[in-house]
Amino acid sequence: MGMFLQRKQINAFGRLAKLVDSGDTQLLACCNELEGATAVHEFPYIYAAVLLANRRRLLEAISFLERCESNTFASKLCQYLKECGVFAPRAVTFADSRPYDIYTRTGLYKEYLAGAKAAIMAFVDKNPQPVSSSRFSILDIGTGNGVFITEIINCIAAKNGACRCKLIVLDQSQAMHAAAEEYIKLHAKLDVETVHIYSKIQDIAPELLPALLGEEPIWFINAGLSVHHMPDTVKINMLKNLSVVAEHFLLTDMSGNHDLPEKDSPELVYSIVCTYDRYFKAVVGADLTEADKQLCIYDFWLAEALTMLSCERPQRIDYHATIKQWGEYAGKAGYEVVNLIPTTYCGDDPLNFTMHLRVKE
Ligand SMILES: C[S@@+](CC[C@H](N)C(=O)[O-])C[C@H]1O[C@@H](n2cnc3c(N)ncnc32)[C@H](O)[C@@H]1O
Repeated sequence: MGMFLQRKQINAFGRLAKLVDSGDTQLLACCNELEGATAVHEFPYIYAAVLLANRRRLLEAISFLERCESNTFASKLCQYLKECGVFAPRAVTFADSRPYDIYTRTGLYKEYLAGAKAAIMAFVDKNPQPVSSSRFSILDIGTGNGVFITEIINCIAAKNGACRCKLIVLDQSQAMHAAAEEYIKLHAKLDVETVHIYSKIQDIAPELLPALLGEEPIWFINAGLSVHHMPDTVKINMLKNLSVVAEHFLLTDMSGNHDLPEKDSPELVYSIVCTYDRYFKAVVGADLTEADKQLCIYDFWLAEALTMLSCERPQRIDYHATIKQWGEYAGKAGYEVVNLIPTTYCGDDPLNFTMHLRVKE
């Protein structure tokens, strides 16, 4: 199941968009006609619902979503609209660490982490740390609750015997800094000196980076699901600015067509429906309480999806790019892609991946 629509499909759904203002009967007839035109059979009804919701026609949106009970994305969105009565997130993502903590207990997260760990350890094998064999230094962008980076540093220590590490934790959320500090304290198996930087990475002026990061050479920059929070040109500048800080950038992210398409375009909505359906299913199928499942979906995954679906591009917050786009951005910023490993899948397409970027000589 691809997350991209063909030109013919985009045109067909463009026709559906024109019918949104001409009454339900014609809109429904067009959805019926287009049902099965994409791998997600119910997509015409979901797309119509998004367009209606963005025009504040929530009851009509709900009636279209009620036709898609077997689609997890649609049924969760429908339930949310009935309960919350608004086509907008009820929470700010990462203002509280609990929704993400819950996600890190799912099978999909564990698969993502295991895949990224294997890719990062392959890098470690080929690129020993520059300072000493007993100590290393890493800049971690978007540390979140600390689960990811703790697993990585523990694995490095087990492999090369390092007993000390300087970990620069850079995150835009105070709640996530606190959660990471606590998690590292409890679970790190080596002596970790944490340095906390509370900022969005793209907001740090390049001339401030050396003073903020200190003099010790940084072995590699790690970024897990954290540098997609900016549009294409800002991503390129961010990568360029960081290329003076470290030679290696280990980018772990999710692939999505959420950077360039405009609000209400069939391409954007289709990619969101495909990818977020995968995440919703991972939470629904996990061994969690119903309350935890709801908190994770409503305040994390659905909150992200709703912001992307309801806001104009400058306010979108999440701008997931495809693997191909990331390769292009990295090239423009002066890096070469040394290695690319897809780690989880959405149908036949990679969902998560880890990419080793090295600054070109
Ligand atoms: C999905 S969590 C990822 C946590 C962890 N790296 C992992 O892979 O499990 C993303 C984290 O990135 C942070 N974040 C979001 N936008 C950011 C930005 N522009 N700069 C730095 N951190 C950001 C969020 O606050 C959140 O803690």
